[in-house]
Amino acid sequence: MAETIVRLKGVGKEFAEDGLVLDGIDLAVAAGEFVSLVGPSGCGKTSLLRLVAGLEAPTRGEIRRSGEVSAGSIGYVFQDPTLMPWADAFANVHLPLKLKGVSRAEAEGRVMAALEMVGMADAHHKLPRELSGGMRMRVSIARAIVAAPRLLLMDEPFAALDEITRFRLNDDLMALWERHGWTVIFVTHSVYEAVYLSSRVLVMQAGPGPIAEEFAVDVAHPRQPDFRLSADFADRAAAISLALRRAMGQLAAR
Ligand SMILES: Nc1ncnc2c1ncn2[C@@H]1O[C@H](COP(=O)(O)OP(=O)(O)OP(=O)(O)O)[C@@H](O)[C@H]1O
Ligand SMILES: [Mg+2]
Repeated sequence: MAETIVRLKGVGKEFAEDGLVLDGIDLAVAAGEFVSLVGPSGCGKTSLLRLVAGLEAPTRGEIRRSGEVSAGSIGYVFQDPTLMPWADAFANVHLPLKLKGVSRAEAEGRVMAALEMVGMADAHHKLPRELSGGMRMRVSIARAIVAAPRLLLMDEPFAALDEITRFRLNDDLMALWERHGWTVIFVTHSVYEAVYLSSRVLVMQAGPGPIAEEFAVDVAHPRQPDFRLSADFADRAAAISLALRRAMGQLAAR
């Protein structure tokens, strides 16, 4: 059995104005898993990621993280990635290492390696405004992985991109995941993206409550783009789409 990276037990979160947004969440993520979270807008996906990251404390329940993860070995790609507009790609990716006190000499190689991984080494001197949306997203992924995190949290990282760019970044991310054995929790509104990338897809319900349904995507890696065209893929996506509709309450009356 792989090591458990993070485990949530009966986790709930309440905000003053919104009341309870999450409740009774049980979830364990093992090392090397690629877990996707799908669910209606406002169901608490971002809130859940923030709890896992320790950016927010749960109102009830408990969250246990592996030693390395609780020591801060987490990469986070935020839903609205903000790069420092006045700083070039290199400086943006350098920031987390600088904050950790890594020497400039050591950081330099690591920053360039991270930019290389996302195919952005040649653009290291460019400012965010000189980059396309897809390139900015690559830089924010490089910033999230530069410190070699034990756990990578990604909140709808490709939502704003055109489909071709999104497909390409999906393949690049999957190749990196296959090569480095990362543990990823990935939020998306795209059932197709979730099926393509994940080892497990979790469907969250609209109201606060336990994870509604869970789907294992037991399809071997490396996965090829052809997987998207297969009947197996379509069947899995259809099953998850139905679960999503159930989770939204649209099929409640049936
Ligand atoms: N820091 C906060 N303070 C108060 N309320 C919050 C805070 N963060 C989230 N909420 C509320 O919690 C609920 C869930 O928000 P969250 O952003 O987690 O949803 P989401 O599933 O990520 O939605 P989307 O798919 O639109 O990104 C919303 O009602 C939101 O207003
Ligand atoms: Mg969100």
